[in-house]
Amino acid sequence: MAIRNLLLVAMAATALGEARSTIQSRQSSTITVDLTKTYQTMDGFGTSETFQRANQMRALSPELQRYSLDLLFNRTSGAGFSILRNGIGSSPDSSSDHMVSIQPKNPGGPNAEPKYVWDGNDNSQVWVSTEAAKTYGVRTFYANAWSAPGYMKTNGNDANGGSLCGVSGATCSSGDWKQAYANYLVQYITYYKEVGVDITHVGFLNEPDLTTSYASMRSNGQQAADVIKVLRPALDKANYTQVKINCCDAEGWSSQNAMMGQLRSVENQLGVITAHSYTSQPGSPINTKLNVWQTENADLQGPWTAAWYSNNGAGEGLLWANKIYDAIVRANASAYLYWIGVQGGPTNSKMIRISDDKKSVIPSKRLWAMANWSRFVRPGAVRVGTSGSPSGAKVSAFKNPDGTVSVQVIQGGTSSGAVAVKVNGFTAQAVKAWITDSTRDVGALEVTLSTDGTTATANVPSRSFVTFVFEPVGASEGS
Ligand SMILES: *[C@@H]1O[C@H](CO)[C@@H](O)[C@H](O)[C@H]1NC(C)=O
Ligand SMILES: *[C@@H]1O[C@H](CO)[C@@H](O)[C@H](O)[C@H]1NC(C)=O
Ligand SMILES: *[C@@H]1O[C@H](CO)[C@@H](O)[C@H](O)[C@H]1NC(C)=O
Ligand SMILES: *[C@@H]1O[C@H](CO)[C@@H](O)[C@H](O)[C@H]1NC(C)=O
Repeated sequence: MAIRNLLLVAMAATALGEARSTIQSRQSSTITVDLTKTYQTMDGFGTSETFQRANQMRALSPELQRYSLDLLFNRTSGAGFSILRNGIGSSPDSSSDHMVSIQPKNPGGPNAEPKYVWDGNDNSQVWVSTEAAKTYGVRTFYANAWSAPGYMKTNGNDANGGSLCGVSGATCSSGDWKQAYANYLVQYITYYKEVGVDITHVGFLNEPDLTTSYASMRSNGQQAADVIKVLRPALDKANYTQVKINCCDAEGWSSQNAMMGQLRSVENQLGVITAHSYTSQPGSPINTKLNVWQTENADLQGPWTAAWYSNNGAGEGLLWANKIYDAIVRANASAYLYWIGVQGGPTNSKMIRISDDKKSVIPSKRLWAMANWSRFVRPGAVRVGTSGSPSGAKVSAFKNPDGTVSVQVIQGGTSSGAVAVKVNGFTAQAVKAWITDSTRDVGALEVTLSTDGTTATANVPSRSFVTFVFEPVGASEGS
């Protein structure tokens, strides 16, 4: 919208806003954004298609494949996700939803010549990754192993816990497998490089505080540090100096925090601290200077819902908008990943459901809650300070690498009314606002910009998520 039109709308709307507030005495508030107060840098938002979920996507018709990919990665018609978390297989086979290993059989000990096998497909994760990279420009790929193959472990099985042979307190008659495991992870990165996908982050543990009947491997912080000391040089030797090590995807935020003491000595060899939200939600920062990612959360059991808000149920969109807020603003997270993107079946463990007859693909409002963050808070964005907020609302703000400033107002309560957002020391040539609530699937929300280009005003209704985006003077005008 041209600035002249905005001014006319601004004057009209201010008069209207004042008239309304006297009649209905609703929320009225000014949020001030302070660009000089900076917090963490964002790496992005994302999800995964591990455990053969990518195969489910690929089995769809070409039209539904494209629709699914657009919903995940398209920056104008979907969530615009910028991070994909892939699973590095550890299973000897592909039965059930297993992720098969690139070395399913013991090559004859930790020092034997490796016998890697690669099908170029990796349960269709190569296809999803290639589409993400080539079609949609995704640049961040997190390859994460749930376990080492069974023959490298104390329990001889990639499932049911057990530890990697050779870490502190885990000795095996077969020897020390730390170096062989590091080499194996490096080889996985090389296979992806060969198909044109650069893995940027690698993790060697998933929920090391939990034993499950599927791929799982136990580790404490010391045992993780033992692996990191071997993995970092192995990556560097293979010229993967840019590939960062992520650790440790603990089951909950506080269990990851509890591992930090034993990881301190290897913090300079680590890239990102990763944690899930199942046993404890992100409520305060993890004790580290490194970027922290929330790498897995979902409503695992609840019956499928696509709702934005009905009774604040565990699968509703507004609830997820709030969860993301807590991770970023209260717990300093630089990335937020939902567990699964696209999958069939009756639970909320995914954001997008493949119908039982596989003839349709249905996005939930959880996806759009993610999208309302992901599309406006881009990789490299720096979170900035805000003060003042409407009653019952959660407010966050970011300066994006392209110079735009985006401000999120999540009104989780029943207040509604005019909200003014002022960005100190910043002159906008234009402002846009988008709204998500039970009845609206966005489109634009009417918003006005003050004549000095610093303050935007819009009506923020109850139980809604409104995003303001300020374009700096001098930027080429967008659509
Ligand atoms: C994203 O979606 C828009 C709108 O449907 C479409 O025009 C565009 O081609 C898509 N982008 C990519 C990279 O596929
Ligand atoms: C190492 O990687 C860099 C880019 O990351 C590349 O320019 C260089 O040629 C590589 N060297 C070797 C020995 O592969
Ligand atoms: C937040 O994360 C950044 C790294 O992204 C770190 O430098 C900073 O110390 C963290 N802040 C707190 C309060 O933990
Ligand atoms: C925000 O969420 C709504 C649905 O609640 C969705 O229709 C809309 O496309 C989302 N906005 C963006 C920009 O992703």
